[in-house]
Amino acid sequence: MLKFSSVRCNSFINNADVVKYVAKAKDALAVLNDETGAGNDFLGWKRIASSTPESLIADFEAIRDKWIAKGVDLVVVIGIGGSYLGAKCAVEAFKHNFIHSGKAPEIVFAGHNLSEDYLAELEDYMNLKNVATICISKSGTTTEPAVAFRLVKAYIEAKYADAKERIVAITDAKKGALKTLATEQGYASFVIADNVGGRFSVLSPVGLLPICVAGYDIRALLKGAADMEEVCLSSSEENPSLQYAAIRNLLYSENKKSTEVLVTYNPKLTFFAEWWKQLFGESEGKDCKGIYPASVAFTTDLHSMGQFIQDGSRIMFETVISVENAARKVVIGKDEANLDGLNFLAGKRLEHCNKMAELGTKLAHIDGGVPQIEISIEKIDEYNIGQLFYFFEAACGISGYMLGVNPFNQPGVEAYKKNMFALLEKPGYEAQAAALKARL
Ligand code: PA5
Repeated sequence: MLKFSSVRCNSFINNADVVKYVAKAKDALAVLNDETGAGNDFLGWKRIASSTPESLIADFEAIRDKWIAKGVDLVVVIGIGGSYLGAKCAVEAFKHNFIHSGKAPEIVFAGHNLSEDYLAELEDYMNLKNVATICISKSGTTTEPAVAFRLVKAYIEAKYADAKERIVAITDAKKGALKTLATEQGYASFVIADNVGGRFSVLSPVGLLPICVAGYDIRALLKGAADMEEVCLSSSEENPSLQYAAIRNLLYSENKKSTEVLVTYNPKLTFFAEWWKQLFGESEGKDCKGIYPASVAFTTDLHSMGQFIQDGSRIMFETVISVENAARKVVIGKDEANLDGLNFLAGKRLEHCNKMAELGTKLAHIDGGVPQIEISIEKIDEYNIGQLFYFFEAACGISGYMLGVNPFNQPGVEAYKKNMFALLEKPGYEAQAAALKARL
């Protein structure tokens, strides 16, 4: 099971504060469990892992198998924010760093930017491939995925007689443009429940269908998350989500640590940090409050951000995700000339070097005034990533309530959209366009 430790915070915090913040975390957890807090109509994520019906998983597998039978070798998953990051980070975690297995379609993502070059190059790639698409948008009206879907849909319709068989929509049960189109065209479609917000949706069809189509074991992913449900909603002081929420709020409020840096030591988890940043950034960054979520991928970033973390403004604490076991074994060889002086490493596993780098960095950063929260998982696989997803979601709910914000809304993301629509001259935005243009 996932392990949590705050022992490397001990020299920065005192026991009385720990007791105080654990008590606050327990109160916040009670609000989450009783469903009496702000945003309580968005708590569908709490039991989604343990209540996903087998029939839904079978439907996902049927789509995967149908596409494989058609020879589909590229699935374009369209979505942004919470409709993108969960599947993206899971696929990045599970896939081979270099080789596509060929057992299931390759997954690429679109609709998470407005780059013309990106979509033009996607079209170049689709020209080489047998293509299907999954379009994910809860509202069904978000500009970035809607624009990408126009392009990919038109491409598929022009290229294949069975276009409708190659398009799947994941959206609201009743409303939105995507829902209307899916109904009209008879696309296969799945529902994002009203009570599941975007950044808490990775264990819903939003994450599960793309991960399944990519060939990964969503049963194990759900099992990992479901095994964490009881643990992370329990009022026991051993609850790791409760402890994590308590310690990070203590560091923020008492130690004035306003930035949390999520640290990983395996490039497969680099995108997991992007998912985590959205989860905490969009949930807590409001009402002029919140811990700024940042991330680094070590040892790569020890050669860039390492200097700042060791020696720059003392604004941060680290949350380190450790992976106990590498999946593969690489042993460093002996070199007769030993020009690089590394023969002292001969016969050692590279993973041992990575672990020593991790340990050495932790101690150096403590000396530099950076407290560390440690989270460890046994290995990178579906079961363990499922645990991490649930652990952080529960912690985010508890932590947001401790902070005194509604962790389940995101009013701040509307501001840019209004300006963008006005500048793009969307009908209805004329007055705002005039006001903005006067400022430019
Ligand atoms: O977490 C969220 O709610 C957001 O990041 C949304 O997921 C994102 O804005 C995409 O929205 P939609 O799925 O409605 O297209």
